[in-house]
Amino acid sequence: MKMTRPYIICHMVTSIDGKVTGDFLYRPECEKATEVYYEINRNYNVDGFICGRVTMESSFTNCWYPDLSAYDSVEDKRDFIPHNLSGFYAIAFDPKGKLGWKSSIIIDDDPGYGNAQIIEVLTKQVDCRYLGYLQKTGIPYIFAGETEIDVKTALFKLKNLMGIGTLLLEGGSIVNGYFERADAIDELSLVVAPVVAKGEDKPLFTDACIADYRLLDVKKCDYSVIWLNYKKDKSCTE
Ligand SMILES: NC(=O)c1ccc[n+]([C@@H]2O[C@H](COP(=O)([O-])OP(=O)(O)OC[C@H]3O[C@@H](n4cnc5c(N)ncnc54)[C@H](OP(=O)(O)O)[C@@H]3O)[C@@H](O)[C@H]2O)c1
Repeated sequence: MKMTRPYIICHMVTSIDGKVTGDFLYRPECEKATEVYYEINRNYNVDGFICGRVTMESSFTNCWYPDLSAYDSVEDKRDFIPHNLSGFYAIAFDPKGKLGWKSSIIIDDDPGYGNAQIIEVLTKQVDCRYLGYLQKTGIPYIFAGETEIDVKTALFKLKNLMGIGTLLLEGGSIVNGYFERADAIDELSLVVAPVVAKGEDKPLFTDACIADYRLLDVKKCDYSVIWLNYKKDKSCTE
């Protein structure tokens, strides 16, 4: 069967009770799980990673935002895909264009993230001057939806316009939920930390529906961390 979207592996650290956001991630008991998580990330031979706007902000942009008055308006809301892109991508699901990037690539020491070419996935809600800013900064963007990002459209474009074959989906809970509801997750890679989270912390998928996964592999990574690998029985890459 020909794949019309990239193969998606949702790779996350979870608490024992299946949460993925919150203070538990910063506890000393979670350190080994985080180390294992980054190691697995580097070992997956993928074309890039996807994160929601909030995760990109907390991990990479530190809430910096450009002064949009300094940029031309691009009224024509069409995809912008320059040639000569690198083959490793950081894909930001940023419907309203809230992320401020200082360059077109991710600056990070970890080879699982550093030097990734940023791609913005937007909706028609975005400010036209934000498009001018992205163009000036050399950041490609695609449109997928009017107010919410339509996951299927976004993935179709990433595959068919940019030739992207396999991606890690690396959270948080909200973007994971959008993917799960769109039936767009093929595999789960869960690093379980020996910690219970707070009640208000968010689960692996916000607003999930029932779905079946098959357990492929389980590894005890040290005395405290477990890696669980699941696959969707009916991997829907059509
Ligand atoms: N445990 C782990 O392995 C792991 C990994 C990554 C992150 N995290 C944690 O996750 C936290 C953030 O998670 P989160 O669930 O709050 O946020 P998130 O999923 O990172 O980002 C959510 C935001 O992304 C945008 N978005 C994503 N998909 C969309 C769609 N299909 N349509 C419209 N908008 C879409 C929206 O942006 P707007 O709000 O701009 O509309 C939405 O509010 C971080 O603080 C981090 O600590 C944990």
